[in-house]
Amino acid sequence: MSDQIIPLPATAEAAAPVPVTNPNTRKVFIKTYGCQMNVYDSVRMGDALASEGYVTTEAMEEADLVLLNTCHIREKAAEKVYSALGRLREMKKERAANGREMMIGVAGCVAQAEGEEILRRAPAVDVVIGPQTYHRLPQALQRARRGERVIETDYAVEDKFEHLPKTEKAVIRSRGVTSFLTVQEGCDKFCTFCVVPYTRGSEVSRPLAQILEEAQRLVDAGVREITLLGQNVNAWHGEGPKGDAWGLGDLLYRLSEIPGLARLRYTTSHPRDMDDRLIEAHRDLRTLMPYLHLPVQAGSDRVLKAMNRRHTAEEYVRLIERIRSVRPDIALSGDFIVGFPGETEAEFEDTLRLVERVRYAQAFSFKYSTRPGTPGAELGSQVAEEVKAERLERLQALLLKQQQEFAEGCVGKVIDILLEKPGRNAGQLIGRSPWLQSVNVDAKSSQIGDIISVRIIGTGPNSLFAERIER
Ligand code: 5AD
Ligand code: SF4
Repeated sequence: MSDQIIPLPATAEAAAPVPVTNPNTRKVFIKTYGCQMNVYDSVRMGDALASEGYVTTEAMEEADLVLLNTCHIREKAAEKVYSALGRLREMKKERAANGREMMIGVAGCVAQAEGEEILRRAPAVDVVIGPQTYHRLPQALQRARRGERVIETDYAVEDKFEHLPKTEKAVIRSRGVTSFLTVQEGCDKFCTFCVVPYTRGSEVSRPLAQILEEAQRLVDAGVREITLLGQNVNAWHGEGPKGDAWGLGDLLYRLSEIPGLARLRYTTSHPRDMDDRLIEAHRDLRTLMPYLHLPVQAGSDRVLKAMNRRHTAEEYVRLIERIRSVRPDIALSGDFIVGFPGETEAEFEDTLRLVERVRYAQAFSFKYSTRPGTPGAELGSQVAEEVKAERLERLQALLLKQQQEFAEGCVGKVIDILLEKPGRNAGQLIGRSPWLQSVNVDAKSSQIGDIISVRIIGTGPNSLFAERIER
């Protein structure tokens, strides 16, 4: 589905660099825009290129190949890509003047949606490759090296996951103790504002055996927490070992049996696909973290209908109540759009009221952005830009207040955190709370990958402070 996408802070570079041994090795710089699905895809593209002798670098200046893994969800995202391509064109020219080659590739959803248009608008681009075809990247680059400008945006008939090389354990280890694992792609919901069904195609679930194998591989390499990804992850379905129909809840029960896998998460979900089994998983599984990203988008039933969300505000609130009744400590996160065509002030206030009722720990909110080709773009009554901006400001003030209240409510609590990376000062480590907050703690005798008990003693702008306790 869905509302798949939690925007990452600005842009996240993909995989951690692999140590360079051969000075002649080709280097690839991958810049990732958009959602976690793209972060996962960037990592896998890095894997595909590793088999061609590329290593990833975090320094664009030293890259032989610059790959932009793009997002098309809002208008500005595509424009950002075109301006980045303008800068890269200059860089490529300078390189050529110094007798050194630099190739440019565009991957992801802008590649899928714009195709030929990218080659037309950005003459320096060598390869355009869609989200379903990136396993063909090595061949596409070979063709580009022979002078062709390559487009690979067909929905591949073969399964890309079957064709991608398995990630080396040492490489997985270098990426840390948490990992994404895509289990589902595409969306059949057709919310009227959203390009995803057109860029990522219809819903496809990866088979159970493939997911279990990848999860086991991650755990064998030291991963302690896996976040299952899908545009509409809770629509995942597969065949169980006895040929029975499995949903995401069943998959979570099965994954929680993997020894050493301490934590599970999943994102993003659609309210219509939160079935009983999944809610039971939240009740029963201690490995399943009490955090749920469940976008609602708006609080007015008329707007929800116009968005083709297929649920009312009341149904959403009742669903949250059911989930909270079995897992009272669950933290809720959501996505919101303000200024959908025709949204009145009173309808916007319905969104504020819904937020007041639900109380979110975290949220992402956006001004409606017209996406050509979606039904929303055909609607008359577009809301004025200033009105959208003013509504967004009010909504974000309320969401920020709730986020702070949630963080302050954590102070004094004793919780387990998964240590993920070194902190700023010696002896300090940064861990992750069950509710996805960063937690700073002095934990000299502990290691990254450990789960330790801490007491939360304070809040910062984007993180919590804690002291270690023995339990
Ligand atoms: N305009 C604004 N926000 C959008 N989103 C998706 N499409 C649009 C659009 N056209 C938001 C939704 C979705 C999140 C990933 O991005 O809130 O859940
Ligand atoms: Fe999510 Fe709706 Fe877009 Fe599907 S169409 S990805 S459910 S916002």
